[in-house]
Amino acid sequence: MKILIIHGPNLNLLGRREADIYGTKNLDEIDEMLGQLAKELKVELDIKQSNHEGEIVDMIQNSKQYAALVINPAAYTHTSVAIRDAIAAVEISTVEVHLSNIHRREEFRHKSLIAPVAHGQISGFGYESYLLGLRAAVSIANAKKSAS
Ligand code: DQA
Repeated sequence: MKILIIHGPNLNLLGRREADIYGTKNLDEIDEMLGQLAKELKVELDIKQSNHEGEIVDMIQNSKQYAALVINPAAYTHTSVAIRDAIAAVEISTVEVHLSNIHRREEFRHKSLIAPVAHGQISGFGYESYLLGLRAAVSIANAKKSAS
């Protein structure tokens, strides 16, 4: 079973970027922890990061081989009809994750265009949001597999 992880814009700066909000771990450290957890859960991971909306749309359109998607759309969460539509189009089981709790931050972050097409959203647990997100994605994918 293969799971796709997508990190959206500016997440390549983690560790150096607003550490009081996003924590001190950088993206490589988070990816390393995801890799460890994937081994435990016996799944394969592909992990991608992009600062470009269209590139993220392409990644989602080309995601047929994956059992589920864990995505932190970052700022595109609040603006991207294109990413939302791509997820709806390919009907991939999706877990939306955020390091910070977007609901207790500025008003403009409260709205997610992705949430209505995601299975669920995990927000506010720092880097652990990703680990919880991967567990959720594997559990959704397993449930889907045993139902088919
Ligand atoms: C974020 C929250 C977004 O509002 C913000 O634009 C990000 C990161 C998070 O992980 O907390 O870049 O998705």
